[in-house]
Amino acid sequence: MNIKKLISDLITVKIENINYEDLIVESISSDKGDYCLPCFPFSKILKKNPNQIALDLASTVKKSKYIEKIEVVQGYLNFFLNIQVLSKEILAEIIDSKIQTEGQGKVVCIDYGSPNLAKYLHIGHLKTLIIGESLCRLFEMFGYTVKRLNFVGDYGTPFGKIIGGIELFGSMQEVEKRGNDALQDYYVKFNQLEEKDEKYVQMARDIFKKIEEKDEKIYSMYKKIVEISLSDAIEKFKLLGVEFDDYRGEMYYNQFVPKLIERLKELGLLSTSQGAQIVDLSAYDMPPAIMLKSDGTSLYASRDLSASIVRYRDYEFDKMIYLTAVEQDLHFKQWFKVAELMKMKYASSLEHVSYGRFSLPDGKISSRRGKQAVLVDLIEYVLTKAKEVIKDRKFEIEKPTEVAKKVSRAVLNYSVLKVERGKDCVFDVEKAFSFEGETAPYMQYTFTRIESILRKYSNNINNSKNIEYDYSCFNTDAFVLTKMLNNFVPDCRQALIKRDPSFVAKRVMELCKAFNKFYTTTKVLEGTEPEINAKIRLLIALRKILKQGFNLICIECLKEM
Ligand code: ARG
Repeated sequence: MNIKKLISDLITVKIENINYEDLIVESISSDKGDYCLPCFPFSKILKKNPNQIALDLASTVKKSKYIEKIEVVQGYLNFFLNIQVLSKEILAEIIDSKIQTEGQGKVVCIDYGSPNLAKYLHIGHLKTLIIGESLCRLFEMFGYTVKRLNFVGDYGTPFGKIIGGIELFGSMQEVEKRGNDALQDYYVKFNQLEEKDEKYVQMARDIFKKIEEKDEKIYSMYKKIVEISLSDAIEKFKLLGVEFDDYRGEMYYNQFVPKLIERLKELGLLSTSQGAQIVDLSAYDMPPAIMLKSDGTSLYASRDLSASIVRYRDYEFDKMIYLTAVEQDLHFKQWFKVAELMKMKYASSLEHVSYGRFSLPDGKISSRRGKQAVLVDLIEYVLTKAKEVIKDRKFEIEKPTEVAKKVSRAVLNYSVLKVERGKDCVFDVEKAFSFEGETAPYMQYTFTRIESILRKYSNNINNSKNIEYDYSCFNTDAFVLTKMLNNFVPDCRQALIKRDPSFVAKRVMELCKAFNKFYTTTKVLEGTEPEINAKIRLLIALRKILKQGFNLICIECLKEM
């Protein structure tokens, strides 16, 4: 229910160019009503003081079953709503609501979580994976068809180095046995050689050239490496509850680059600079977009651009979103511009969404190799911690391991999603497990509380009678919760528009807190039967919205904890 519109429609005198609905806000404290209209902006237009305007407007407000009373205080028109009438209608609307349909028939492709293969996934990948997954779910909530695309990094000299490493000091058997660990070892060792002796730089390049030329032996090694490393990545994605529809990566799209170059030539967009083929973007204050190196090989930008052409052919997307760290801003700006200059039909549907850094407090998890901690290490660390917490709290639950997994996933995912997308965050594992603060376990625990009340209720329910409801027992806490539930879908729409799931995470947390406040002032299962029924209806609506909210922020609901 759109309460702001409802109120605004009741004000019969209109002011030119003013839409009351845009100005009405929720009151900060309940003694000032539920909603208020500040009348200061009208002062200039009407040449009267705000308080007088508020008084004048107040006298024009139509009588309505939704409004209990109106007050004018210091230039504000305060509306006190009828809790009973509104609660009844809002809860019915939520409980009976069907899915949102505004995105129906529209296809959104989201490119996220794309790792460079043959390397460990590091903790930074958590951001793209979880924010990406959450965005997918938000689009799905509004009826869009979502395609989850993973543009795996399976192209480039790192593969030359790894194969060089295998040839110099390893074997494919070792790769099959030890998977990514072996690949990382070879990569690191080969890099060390390169630092000492230039000739290895050339060796890696030559091997990579052979991969491109599909040299029988080298290409089959490459294929195997990609296969092993991709299935390893897919396994890790699954640990986080993420799965993709399409894993075609850079090597796949590389085959379409020659056609792209031809097209760019036809359009007169290409020029040569130091042997490389570039698109000059100086008119747009950007460095040139390099499409082909002087040795004729493609670049990240040309592969991304050809991927967009193929993806548009395959999915006819209405929106194509790329989710990466901010460092790649320029890359996307450049090739989006080239797509625009090529007058690609879909150019205006391309969108880059970036996020800030994710790190751990120093020394928390030692990095196996490289600068950043490895993602599985973090996943395991958090899982162990979840198991300890569950043991310590002596929960009597049927499947502690399952619960620990769900709690640990929730802790990880919430640690990413609670922070505004663009901001950097440091993940404090200890705090994240507290049941008191604003944490994922607190939310999951709240959900189990609601479930348990509803279970108790349904055990005692007398089904033979017609159910009657009495909302007169709703106090402010109940109504605050009801209003929050009413705001949930519009808030999610805002999160979608801003491409920022942190807004959903905040709302879900607020709902949990509001429920716990309500729970301290209200005995849900006490009172007359119609009173209990009304309170249960609030909990049913809350459970429905929380389920939806948890799903959006990739937190699993628990029945017991
Ligand atoms: N593999 C890249 C990296 O690890 C991210 C790819 C993002 N997607 C894209 N279509 N460029 O930095």
